[in-house]
Amino acid sequence: MIKKYTYGTPFKTDTIIESVDTAAGTPLFGSITLTDGFCLTYKMAKEDIVYGLGQANRGINKRGFIYDSECTDIPTHTEEQRSFYGAHNFIILDGNEHFGMYFDYPGKLTFDIGYTCQDTLTVSCDETDLDLYVITGDSSYDIVKQFRKIIGRSYIPPKFAFGFGQSRWGYKTQKDFEEVVTKYRENHIPIDMLYMDIDYMEDYKDFTINNDNFPDFDSFVKDMKTKNIHLIPIIDAGVKIEDGYDIYEEGKKGSYFCKREDGTDFEAAVWPGLTHFPDVLNEDARAWFGSKYEKLVKKGIDGFWNDMCEPAIFYTPEGVEEYKEYLQKELLTCEVFPPFDAKTKAAELANSPKDYSRFYHNVDGTMVRHDKVHNLYGMNMTRAAFEGLQKTEPEKRFLLFSRSSFIGAHRYGGVWTGDNASWWSHLLLNLKMMPSLNMCGFLYTGADLGGFGSHTTRELLLRWLALGVFTPLMRNHAAIGTREQECYQFEHVEDFRHVIGVRYRLIPYIYSEFMKAALSDDMYCRPLAFDFPNDSMARQVEDQLLIGKEIMIAPVYTQNAAGRYVYLPEEMKFIKFQPDGSISEEILEKGHHYIDVALNEVPLFIRKDKCIPIVDAAECIDDIDLSTKKMIGYELAEYDLYDDDGISMIP
Ligand code: NOJ
Repeated sequence: MIKKYTYGTPFKTDTIIESVDTAAGTPLFGSITLTDGFCLTYKMAKEDIVYGLGQANRGINKRGFIYDSECTDIPTHTEEQRSFYGAHNFIILDGNEHFGMYFDYPGKLTFDIGYTCQDTLTVSCDETDLDLYVITGDSSYDIVKQFRKIIGRSYIPPKFAFGFGQSRWGYKTQKDFEEVVTKYRENHIPIDMLYMDIDYMEDYKDFTINNDNFPDFDSFVKDMKTKNIHLIPIIDAGVKIEDGYDIYEEGKKGSYFCKREDGTDFEAAVWPGLTHFPDVLNEDARAWFGSKYEKLVKKGIDGFWNDMCEPAIFYTPEGVEEYKEYLQKELLTCEVFPPFDAKTKAAELANSPKDYSRFYHNVDGTMVRHDKVHNLYGMNMTRAAFEGLQKTEPEKRFLLFSRSSFIGAHRYGGVWTGDNASWWSHLLLNLKMMPSLNMCGFLYTGADLGGFGSHTTRELLLRWLALGVFTPLMRNHAAIGTREQECYQFEHVEDFRHVIGVRYRLIPYIYSEFMKAALSDDMYCRPLAFDFPNDSMARQVEDQLLIGKEIMIAPVYTQNAAGRYVYLPEEMKFIKFQPDGSISEEILEKGHHYIDVALNEVPLFIRKDKCIPIVDAAECIDDIDLSTKKMIGYELAEYDLYDDDGISMIP
């Protein structure tokens, strides 16, 4: 059952698309005060688990920390971070009482989940205008399914998007890209997508191509298609201010950019230097920006990733002026050198709250200050792209994912989890974030495999790929200046061929389970506790996941490990895909086990009395031969395989 409590005059976020009964006097869980902003307080029992928050830090159980829902461009995903790129205000209390809460509020919201007081949950924000949806149900899983019904169906990508993709910030020329493809194909490591980071553009201008580096881009795209490679360019939020640049000129003419209080176009520096932000919260501006993707679609492009859409700001002219004044007044005249203060002030030029309060959106004729609706920018940029692409080719699915999001964006695209690092702890963070994202509707998700920042190692990349085999978005991406981490850069390339090959062997299952989850508002990946709510051990497990209805995974996430401990909530068949192509099987009883997993093996567990389809490995999705399909798992079990043409829009 879902009830809606309305406080003040909430901003319409478009997250909830089904009508929900108002609570009309129904008592609430916890207590609410509205004196100094909104504040909900709830006393948690000792055993209560708190799920949710989508793209948030730390565990699957969110208790014991404080989280800010505030979309942030944050390149250091350390344990103390309170916010990442997404703002996903959905939590579930699982314990003595059982309920979910969605806070429909587009500004900064804080979830103190036993951080200040161990047994107290406090959700607070500065304003008192919001809708609170309270969902009661039999279990956490049931609550998620009810929530998912009212937020609408998750985005469905084309089938090729389930292949493996390579990316690196730093590929510049056609030759750079061709070399990557050649090396993958020569080494017979499967691949379907090559991502184009900002350097493919002319001076980082959206929807342009650098003609020096790509003399005939259209033919290049075509040629890549003949090799079964989809090129996936990045699109950034900021539009470069440059006379004569058509997107800038059109945006100015149509008044499509975010404005300062005085009505002039707001300026912020990002990769291209000074830019304007398209006002994607405005319907006309959104339609205009979305229509621009067609420029690249006409060149044969069928997928995009949207970046910097928090929106990230390196600095603004106003911020720089204030910084100069500070230098002049404080730094150049002070008698005791304040180095820390000066450093902090310089760092604060980026993504500054003050800058977020300097610009406005035109929402149906009303000027709305950005910081009040900050968390909606990324979602509306994804929406712009999705709707634009739909207009361009209504019958076709495009690959689309973004960095910043709000619940609602899950209808328009997927998300990748941003600038992680080549750290073992981030492999585990990737695993923990997946089910929480699924709870909020984001099914097509994945992390930068191998790690984006810092230098990866062969071992870390292989272990991370073995998790990536099961994440719908499977992409190796790295930052400029880091160790090259394409799979062929490492010794014993055959191990990479094998691990990624297993992904392709599992595609019928992965695609089928993803699609079934998307089409029935279900979760593709779940914590063990969702399927085994009465198993007190399963409720504690934070490093294993259920993938689809028939399998469980337990990836290795520590350096030099020969295997790991695993908990089985029921008897299961332990499967290992061996490097020679064979498959080992062993039935393991319910309980604790230590499993050996060599670096070049891919393990999974098939649940009792279930089976899954596998096929022969292929080097791209199009080459998968379904006639090689066989079943592995429990004899006599049956599997209901979903399949389709992988490209047509599903009504
Ligand atoms: C930030 C993104 O998170 C990262 O993936 C990308 O490589 C850089 N921007 C450069 O475009």
